[in-house]
Amino acid sequence: MKLAKRMDRILVESAFEVLVRARALEAQGRSIVHLEIGEPDFPTPAHIIDAAKRALDEGWTHYGPTQGYPELREAVAGYVSRTRGIQVGPQHVSIVPGGKPIIFFPMLALLEPGDEVIYPNPGFPIYESMIGFLGSIPVPMPLLEDRGFSFDLDLLRAKLTDRTKMLILNSPQNPTGGVIPADDIRAIAELVRDRDLLVLSDEIYSRICYGDPPVSIASMPGMLEKTIILDGFSKTYAMTGWRMGYGVMPEWLVEAVSKLMVNSNSCTASFTQRAGIAALEESQDAVDAMVAEFRRRRDAFCDALNRAPGFRCARPGGAFYAFANVQGTAMSSRDMADFLLHEAGVASLSGASFGQYGEGYVRFSYANSLENLMEAVERIRKAVERTLSAPLTARRR
Ligand SMILES: Cc1ncc(COP(=O)(O)O)c(C=O)c1O
Repeated sequence: MKLAKRMDRILVESAFEVLVRARALEAQGRSIVHLEIGEPDFPTPAHIIDAAKRALDEGWTHYGPTQGYPELREAVAGYVSRTRGIQVGPQHVSIVPGGKPIIFFPMLALLEPGDEVIYPNPGFPIYESMIGFLGSIPVPMPLLEDRGFSFDLDLLRAKLTDRTKMLILNSPQNPTGGVIPADDIRAIAELVRDRDLLVLSDEIYSRICYGDPPVSIASMPGMLEKTIILDGFSKTYAMTGWRMGYGVMPEWLVEAVSKLMVNSNSCTASFTQRAGIAALEESQDAVDAMVAEFRRRRDAFCDALNRAPGFRCARPGGAFYAFANVQGTAMSSRDMADFLLHEAGVASLSGASFGQYGEGYVRFSYANSLENLMEAVERIRKAVERTLSAPLTARRR
């Protein structure tokens, strides 16, 4: 039996593949520091776990409404309104199993073959995967290191056409940790406000940020009706395995997403939604503590990495990724990621696995203990020094 042709156009996420390779090396007795996977290393806060346990005991173990329980949608609407400075209600909210379905479902509902989608590159690989899967045209926007990994606005203006159906923004960003400055968000809103397109604003890292909070394009005049906000519980509350996220979008699109949900998942798990209410409405101390610890690690890791020959790494403004420029080592991104895994015992991701403009970079997730991060940098420094001091012919692998 042959797979449908469209399966040739769907991609995978290399983080999960590298994890498998790293685990295989560990099974052979190698010591690996894991800096490849993008999830907080902290436990889910205890009061959220308690709320889920309580919900199980109370019998929240059945199907729920496809769009999500009204109480959770109220909580999400209140939270998103407060944090973004906008006014949305529960009717604008879709609760789904993770943040990813808010890429999958709205794109499935909106995009036709031939429609153009502008997206950040390097960027979360699922954007490009879904654009290609649906037969739409991927239009990459290079992110620029010297602009803190933001766009060149003139280039964005040049890439907008009458066929542009969607613009994807992601701030704070994966894989660069870049945060789009408020002035740029304002300028982007000016560029797209009068166009017949929607903005998918991936704000999954909105709370993990080390300077001014990121500005949502939904808060710009006239943009609420044109924006899909993607957010969720995975990163903010260290709940990646719970599979719960949400989208905030115009009501007509909520309806379409619900149709796709009823055809695929029926609903998001009921007891986890009860825990979601506790996450949003009870103490945020654990989030603040997690972000403070990420900041400490970011500073120490980036500063130490800059002492490795051929590496350059600015402190990113958000998320928990360091996107190191390795062009000074004259190795490609993929060779460097392989080299680090095999020669240094450090698992990282090639920048090129996030798109062609990620070439020359390697992504490290600093969601690991400070001790392990310092051990990783030491291993990287030694392995690179060893190799760079070897004659060129011996370096070719
Ligand atoms: C930019 C971005 N968007 C969305 C997601 C998906 O989040 P979730 O695990 O909640 O589906 C991720 C996860 O890595 C991400 O990095």
